[in-house]
Amino acid sequence: MSSKIPFVDLRQQHAALRPALDAAIGRVLERADFILGADVEEFEAEFAAFCGARYCIGASSGTSALRMALLAAGVGPGDEVVIPANTYIATAIAVTQCGATPVLVDVDASYLIDVGAVAAALTARTKAIVPVHLYGRIAPMQALLALARARGIDVIEDACQAHGASMNGKRAGTFGRASAFSFYPGKNLGACGDGGAVVTDDEALADEVRLLRDFGQRRKYEHSIKGGNERLDTLQAAVLRVKLPLLERWNERRIEAAARYEEALASAGIRPAQRAADGSDVYHLYVIETEGRDELRAQLSAAGIESGIHYPIPIHRQRAYADLGLGEGVFPATETAAARLLSLPMFPEIQASQIQRVVEVLARARDAVALSA
Ligand SMILES: Cc1ncc(COP(=O)(O)O)c(C=O)c1O
Repeated sequence: MSSKIPFVDLRQQHAALRPALDAAIGRVLERADFILGADVEEFEAEFAAFCGARYCIGASSGTSALRMALLAAGVGPGDEVVIPANTYIATAIAVTQCGATPVLVDVDASYLIDVGAVAAALTARTKAIVPVHLYGRIAPMQALLALARARGIDVIEDACQAHGASMNGKRAGTFGRASAFSFYPGKNLGACGDGGAVVTDDEALADEVRLLRDFGQRRKYEHSIKGGNERLDTLQAAVLRVKLPLLERWNERRIEAAARYEEALASAGIRPAQRAADGSDVYHLYVIETEGRDELRAQLSAAGIESGIHYPIPIHRQRAYADLGLGEGVFPATETAAARLLSLPMFPEIQASQIQRVVEVLARARDAVALSA
């Protein structure tokens, strides 16, 4: 029996980095600066430089980063924030937690926020648009920024799946007024626990986020706003500093793996989900579009191959968002994504032979499904 193929392989990544991770964690233990310690400040400077932005403010998660970026941009009760229906629920939750209303819109052929749908959804109450660079592909930023500029609306990017992706030489997270990143372990840049960051060129916004994440205090026990505890942990920052110098290489490997998948899938007659029009993609996820998705997934699983669905139940059909009053069928492209997309194993260390095997099993399963239809 062939060995299992995981969806992501963090154990392999961490085994290779173990001496550097141990040393970095050891330094934090020796300094004992666990809360907003030296590594947080260093990582913030390094990640800001990596993105090509002036400021990075570490946060406790991607959700908290997005919520704080929106709050600092002035989003609050009574405001509407336009988001894609095809995203992780955290995008909507961050808007809701600001007291604002998420206004869901459908996605385009590459499953990213549809610009025409955004234009149609804008109202006098729209305060911001949150494009999501889903799967590692950059949303259609030029058109969105033009739209937002014309209406005096902020663009806050959800870059939680797109560390290092770039379009026309500009990195994800530097197009809008601010952006949010997640360092959830399985992300292209992941911590060994939760973590996130706000990235921005806007000094006042950066300052407000710094207050929001740390009880509204600039100096200990002097609280100028009602901020909470949403700080990036020093141990996680130390881990992220070990990994950040490898991010570009890891993204290149993901792109190489995607090219391998594409070639193997093409010869098997299986279609990858349509790419972003501009080709920007760091393949946080490698997504294919297929009939009989659930059956194929079961066959992969039976062969020891993990896969994922991003996302099986769209936000507008989640009980948590029943109050939006949106039923099945309102967002056809998002419904198609939920029914037909399948995410295959994707991580920088994935071997060509593993990709080959995934596609062989898929092709066999596809033929079996076709025969039984
Ligand atoms: C698109 C998107 N937005 C937001 C988040 C939230 O990030 P976190 O899990 O770090 O809160 C995630 C990841 O989980 C995500 O994929």
